[in-house]
Amino acid sequence: MGDSVQKRPDPAGESGGETPRDSEGETPRDSGSGAPCDSEEESVREASRDCRPQLDCGESGGAPALLDVRDLRVSYPLKRGIFGRGEKLFNAVDGVSFKIRRGEILGLVGESGSGKTTTGRAIVRLAPISGGEIFYGGKEISKLPNSKFAPYRKKIQMIFQDPFNSLNPRMNIFEIISEPLDIHFPKMTKAQKRDRTAELLEIVGLESGHMARFPHEFSGGQRQRIGIARALAVEPELVICDEPVSALDVSVQAQIINLLQQLRRRFNLTLLFIAHDIAVVEYLSDRIMVMTDGKIVEQGPARDVCERPQNPYTKKLIAAVPKF
Ligand SMILES: Nc1ncnc2c1ncn2[C@@H]1O[C@H](COP(=O)(O)OP(=O)(O)O)[C@@H](O)[C@H]1O
Ligand SMILES: [Mg+2]
Repeated sequence: MGDSVQKRPDPAGESGGETPRDSEGETPRDSGSGAPCDSEEESVREASRDCRPQLDCGESGGAPALLDVRDLRVSYPLKRGIFGRGEKLFNAVDGVSFKIRRGEILGLVGESGSGKTTTGRAIVRLAPISGGEIFYGGKEISKLPNSKFAPYRKKIQMIFQDPFNSLNPRMNIFEIISEPLDIHFPKMTKAQKRDRTAELLEIVGLESGHMARFPHEFSGGQRQRIGIARALAVEPELVICDEPVSALDVSVQAQIINLLQQLRRRFNLTLLFIAHDIAVVEYLSDRIMVMTDGKIVEQGPARDVCERPQNPYTKKLIAAVPKF
């Protein structure tokens, strides 16, 4: 696929999803690129190319991995046998191994149900780990008691798929963004939290004066920006982005991807970027891994995987990208 322009049908066409409800619409205050909306996809692709670091993507040499996942398994009970014995297990994540270097964006792509979300959630203990090891900065973290895991809850943040459901509708934007500050920086004064919230809103391209508003007053893309601001509040190192643009209109997708790219450079973030659309993953990722049935079937530099896919499943995903 490489250089050909890949466009997806506009999901908002059917859902009517992207309806900005304030005067700002979806135009960020400071997109950094100044690119008009209709050329946004092209600018995203160029931005992605220009700043892809020349990382050693192999297993040897280069910087040590920030995250090193080895043979990760997450199993759920499928069916209980009589008297609860002989329980059958379903492996949602079935022996997954990968590394992410500091500052790298690793794309995780696969169809719905392949185990992507479960992989991301297992890293932050939102899914139960049945086997394997997770090293963060060289330290094994999957078996730490919860009290010892607390620092990693700050270092590793998640951005969720659905900006409509992931923000508490009863909390205003200040409360949503400052909630993680209450947990991780309990000594911060209210004034400091307000300043930090204002700063975060500006970082993600929203008006700092809007912190008294509620989630329903924002469009889908703006809500995802709020989710990103909340994730950034505690200065994470690794951000697990679980389909952050899948629910958004295609032009808004490009703006959010552009924002993630800018934030990655600005804060030297490391991203695990999950999506079901390999074209979206290719825009942003340094490396891509392809998942199906709980297993990684292919991984490598983004361009290699997309231009010279080896696995039949990867070829199928690429063939499924609509071309206009
Ligand atoms: N809490 C759970 N209990 C039982 N099965 C689950 C649970 N969470 C996920 N699964 C199953 O695990 C598989 C992988 O799900 P998921 O990680 O959400 O896939 P993806 O994110 O790739 O769409 C699916 O078959 C899903 O039904
Ligand atoms: Mg998912």
